[in-house]
Amino acid sequence: MDQFIVQGPSRLEGEVKISKAKNSCLPIMAAGLLCNRPFKLNDLPDLRDIRTMKKLLFGFGVKINDNAFDCSEIHSTYAPYELVKTMRASVLVLGPLLSRFGEAKVSLPGGCAIGSRPIDLHLDGLKKMGAEINVESGYVHAKCSRLKGAKIDLMFPSVGATENLLMAAVFADGETIIENAAREPEIYDLGEFLISLYPQLKIEGLGTSTIKVQGISKHESNESVKYTPIPDRIEASTFIIAGVMTNSNIVIKGCDKDHIRSVTNALEMSQANLKLYDNTIEVLPRNKELTGFNLRTTPYPYFPTDVQAQFMALATMINDTSIISEEIFENRFMHVPELNRMGADIRLNNQTAVIVGGKRLKGAPVMCTDLRASAALVLAGMIADGETRIQRVYHLDRGYDGFENKLNVLGCDITRESSHNLIASL
Ligand code: EPZ
Repeated sequence: MDQFIVQGPSRLEGEVKISKAKNSCLPIMAAGLLCNRPFKLNDLPDLRDIRTMKKLLFGFGVKINDNAFDCSEIHSTYAPYELVKTMRASVLVLGPLLSRFGEAKVSLPGGCAIGSRPIDLHLDGLKKMGAEINVESGYVHAKCSRLKGAKIDLMFPSVGATENLLMAAVFADGETIIENAAREPEIYDLGEFLISLYPQLKIEGLGTSTIKVQGISKHESNESVKYTPIPDRIEASTFIIAGVMTNSNIVIKGCDKDHIRSVTNALEMSQANLKLYDNTIEVLPRNKELTGFNLRTTPYPYFPTDVQAQFMALATMINDTSIISEEIFENRFMHVPELNRMGADIRLNNQTAVIVGGKRLKGAPVMCTDLRASAALVLAGMIADGETRIQRVYHLDRGYDGFENKLNVLGCDITRESSHNLIASL
């Protein structure tokens, strides 16, 4: 298993280009199952999760050549546990498979480090659309000759459930209304991709809490669609925080400032010195002491849970007390004991973390537990005195494309020690 070695403290300088969003590319790749003609996705990031989704699609019979996909000859609708267990976004193939082929056998994703992550909202919505759903021996068996449009009220604005039901609605008979839909930019992007495949598809309310879809009958999709997903707002946020924590002057290019308004607002309220342009954010050395914050993770457009761990790392270096409440996932504080090993003073009380900042962190061996926690440990290593060895970076490789290379270019002293080198050096 690879590890990172980070020598701190770092000062950064220069520019970094943000990759396309993992959480947009994954549902869009799944949505491609609805398409009976070849299509191309531009600038897909080189991530473990993207490779996993390609393996899953390949198993259905999708022909894949780099970022070109051809789903015209699907011979299977079976998503095996071996793949689904490594990436819960695999469950997003359920809606498109059911909508186009009338059946699907998809392994339950199982929980993951940050929570149990059930899919009851996905399944309840599909049942409302007429699907026969049986869960047996860890698999969802779904059947329906043709889904029918329905009014679905989500108990929680689940991103995945909204995406699955949006895709399921494409070939459903009649109108589907999703109330309390997730409003994330990735939902909007998925809808735009579906419309690029089938321009006659009528989707209203993308990005709002009420999405309406007029189902269409199955027929030829658009010729040679080429689609470019949106930039990764979480990667952009991570680099902006890196610039603030190291009190550097860096420029983050290719991100959409409107997608990260809750993050930049929170940083500016803590006296970070930012300049916001349409697709570029500049971090400047601050001219005021950073102040603590009190944040709750909330569905978009409010403060994103995927930036909670990175803000926790930031809080450790602010000479103030900060509070973070994790309201989305039940177990998303696993970076806390690792940060405390580096000398942070973070106390947990159920879903709330109190961070008494201002103590200088010391480099230490730490362990990644999940994707965003991994990024937080790298950020902490950048402000710590000395060497931080970050193990199990395969978690980070799921969602950050060339993370250490981008940081190296900015002047951070970070190297990857790959496991085979490690063994060879023993
Ligand atoms: C998506 O996960 C993202 N993943 C997550 O990003 C992100 O943290 C999350 O949305 C919230 O923004 C992808 O887009 C691939 P949810 P998803 O359904 O769809 C509960 C990252 O770091 N829930 O909005 O799984 C669930 O348990 C990842 O990039 C149900 O109870 O999130 C959780 O507590 C991590 N029943 C809450 O809702 C359901 O049927 C939010 O889940 C579905 C969800």
